[in-house]
Amino acid sequence: MKEKLLLIVLIAGLAACQSRQKEIESIEKIPYQYRSSYHFAPESGWMNDPNGMVYYAGEYHLFYQYYPDGLQWGPMHWGHAVSEDMVHWEHLPIALYPDELGYIFSGSAVVDINNTSGLGSLEEPPMVAIFTYHDMAAERQGREDYETQGIAYSMDKGRTWTKYADNPVLNNPGVRDFRDPKVIWNESTSKWIMSLAVRDHVEFYSSPDLLTWTKESEFGQNLGAHGGVWECPDLFPLKDENGEEKWVLLVSINPGGPNGGSATQYFIGSFDGHEYQVQDAQTRWVDIGSDNYAGVSWFGVPESDGRRLTMGWMNNWNYANQIPQSGSRGNMTIAREFVLNENILKSVPITELKDLRGQGTSLDVREVTSLDQESFELEMKFVSSVKAPLQLTFQNESGEELLIEFGNGLVKVDRSKVSGNSFSEQFNPVLASSFDSDIYEVRVFVDRVSVELFVNNGSLSMTQLMFPSAELDEVTFAGDVEAIDEVVVYPLSLKTPR
Ligand code: FRU
Repeated sequence: MKEKLLLIVLIAGLAACQSRQKEIESIEKIPYQYRSSYHFAPESGWMNDPNGMVYYAGEYHLFYQYYPDGLQWGPMHWGHAVSEDMVHWEHLPIALYPDELGYIFSGSAVVDINNTSGLGSLEEPPMVAIFTYHDMAAERQGREDYETQGIAYSMDKGRTWTKYADNPVLNNPGVRDFRDPKVIWNESTSKWIMSLAVRDHVEFYSSPDLLTWTKESEFGQNLGAHGGVWECPDLFPLKDENGEEKWVLLVSINPGGPNGGSATQYFIGSFDGHEYQVQDAQTRWVDIGSDNYAGVSWFGVPESDGRRLTMGWMNNWNYANQIPQSGSRGNMTIAREFVLNENILKSVPITELKDLRGQGTSLDVREVTSLDQESFELEMKFVSSVKAPLQLTFQNESGEELLIEFGNGLVKVDRSKVSGNSFSEQFNPVLASSFDSDIYEVRVFVDRVSVELFVNNGSLSMTQLMFPSAELDEVTFAGDVEAIDEVVVYPLSLKTPR
């Protein structure tokens, strides 16, 4: 009997290896065209949300929802990469594997400098990851309490991890959606605060030691957008243009975004260590493109730097499992800094991205200009506000076109003439948003499969995917070109391989 079992296990193992080998072979045949060049993507496999973003000892850590053995969502691990500048990334081994308590869903990481957890020492503080365990077997059995929160710690700068022996540290009270813990240290109460997405609201928990958690309050059941389930919250303080400290709460929602499917909303308010109060009931969006989801901010950025830094998953659950790919599926957005100005959470591309720039070329906006590269940044400055609409068209020899249009109180991105839209009926190629302010500056980041648009230093950001069959290597301008002062295009490329 034992031998028979062993044989079955061996045959099953061999079959799995063969199918993985086939997948790798077919991956190798896929043209490189759908791989971004300067955006973060795993080397192979599936990626969704950024997780555990933490800065420590000169390194930005990026963990992420990862399924290494396939190109669609599957048993979730935490992939891992580090960077000194959030631009050049070094891939590291998988940090967390699923175990008998479940898949490892989204969450955050902190450095426990005061060793409140006792998992390290004052001399060697532990890095602690706080994540959701998603128990698939329990879900299949029809139970409601299949999501719990667990922790793991690392004593070697995130290279290896030990799961805490007494997981879960926060049990499920009987709600189906109970996930994505984002933990911060709250100075005023000297406690850790966890924001947790619970179906249609956020719950705040506090802890002296990361090991025991007490519920403080709930927020948002009757506020903001509710077209879908709430996910990936993030609560953090941020000073506005007058130096006044406000508390921003990010909440991703799926579906129910302004372009259908996934998007991230935010609230502005105050937090007293126990409860969150909004200053108004307006629904605001971090990014009004179709493909920026589950973004949260880095923990532990030194005060001497002072920035609130973020990255999102450049995708949308409406079609994430179907997007054309070249060996890995899923990219992050470029890193951005959140800046609070006149009650708008601006997303400003981080200054480090300028290191990617090659020689800039000033364009003559009256001519068709050849760009000669597929990954670039275009920067436009204006002499006066745009009156009649102004159109920018990126095109290629095959007649494919990406159109960006500003003016008349609108910003529009039209990918309907880019090929490769047919992978999903839910992919909506034309996106538009009202924008009433005078436009003084526009930056466009293109990287083969994506276009990220920032207007007026990130007052409006619009992130979306596209899948042209060949590089869009020419640009033309039409409409109110008189308003343009200068257009400079920079080739962008990484100095070291990712
Ligand atoms: C958001 C999300 C999270 C969850 C994870 C699972 O995209 O649905 O709520 O933890 O992805 O991979």
